[in-house]
Amino acid sequence: MFETIPAHGGTLVNRYIAAEMRPEALARAASLPAIRLSRRQISDLELIAIGAASPHTGFTDHDNYLSVVRTMHLVNGLPWSIPLTLAVEESAAGSLKVGQEITLTDETGAPLAIMTLSDIFRCDKTEEAQQVYRTTDSAHPGVAALYAQGDVLLGGDVQVIQLPPHDDFPRYYLTPAETRAAFSHNGWSSVVGFQTRNPVHRAHEYIIKCALEIVDGLLLHPLVGETKSDDIPADVRMRCYEVLLEGYFPRDRVLLSVNPAAMRYAGPREAIFHAMIRKNYGCTHFIVGRDHAGVGNYYGTYDAQKIFAEFDPDALGIVPLMFEHSFWCVRCEGMASTKTCPHSAEDRISLSGTKVREMLRAGEIPPMEFTRPEVAKILIEAMQDQPC
Ligand code: ADX
Repeated sequence: MFETIPAHGGTLVNRYIAAEMRPEALARAASLPAIRLSRRQISDLELIAIGAASPHTGFTDHDNYLSVVRTMHLVNGLPWSIPLTLAVEESAAGSLKVGQEITLTDETGAPLAIMTLSDIFRCDKTEEAQQVYRTTDSAHPGVAALYAQGDVLLGGDVQVIQLPPHDDFPRYYLTPAETRAAFSHNGWSSVVGFQTRNPVHRAHEYIIKCALEIVDGLLLHPLVGETKSDDIPADVRMRCYEVLLEGYFPRDRVLLSVNPAAMRYAGPREAIFHAMIRKNYGCTHFIVGRDHAGVGNYYGTYDAQKIFAEFDPDALGIVPLMFEHSFWCVRCEGMASTKTCPHSAEDRISLSGTKVREMLRAGEIPPMEFTRPEVAKILIEAMQDQPC
């Protein structure tokens, strides 16, 4: 058995109320003012509850909010790049007082957690957008979500009673404690985490396999919280990951599990955020490829790699493995990257996302140099079921 690496901040947080305390907490929750959480906020609550956002024990308070937005570090000096805020409408915040307890509920009003309010504050959304997303353009999906949320932020620790059940693919929702136990059981002393919000295509597979050559195991860790409406739904992606693993990866080297976070599309800042989360899941290494967590043309191709140089590597505590743009090269007769292939663009199989979607919608299997046929078949089936 191997010891897994320490969580961010040293202790893996668990904000679930002990089972024997739940009946009392439920009774108390019923009598407190309630705040209804959105799907994105529930994702963040889950990250906090299970320790994926360690050292967070609740939603960000005012001092930490400013510190994270402006310096990419918490007040205690630990790296953290995106604030975990709980934004509410002015009308909902009106009668709330610092020091009181409130109940956080799901959309149906079912209680999820009790929060002790330590801060009630306003934020400058333009500043947050500029700092975190490097743009104030409301066409950016992360910025749009920020602008759409309420103007008042609630900070404070949470005690989680229950989270909405995951009916979709429950066996893949492993907590950080569970992935750590699996790594330890497998005898993996080094584990690389792979973030993705897409099906795994050949370029992804190539960089994953390059990384796996130098570590003991892989945590294939797709993000399954809210994504843009034109991203491929998580249930379809999960079937793609399953067939890929079945056909092309050794069973004893890979753990497939999901990251419940919502996608921010914050590029460089989100690469750091993703790395910290994977550290909490027990990964020692983290893959950062081209335009990680990017969208449109907001970020430079390698900005999400460059940002790691702004941090003390020891404080990050997880090693980024950077990969250049990868592709199939006809003349190399294999996968390669701009770092390893001397040939020109005409020799490389390169398909835009739009082109691939068009092919799949038309029931056409893209070249096997772009995606595995087993993966393409699942995507074609899913596209047929979708309205255009
Ligand atoms: S992301 O939003 O989760 O980053 P995606 O699922 O496409 O999007 O990417 C997952 C990881 O693979 C990211 O680290 C990304 O940088 C990397 N990646 C995607 N495509 C390529 C490619 N062609 N070459 C190198 N890295 C890539």
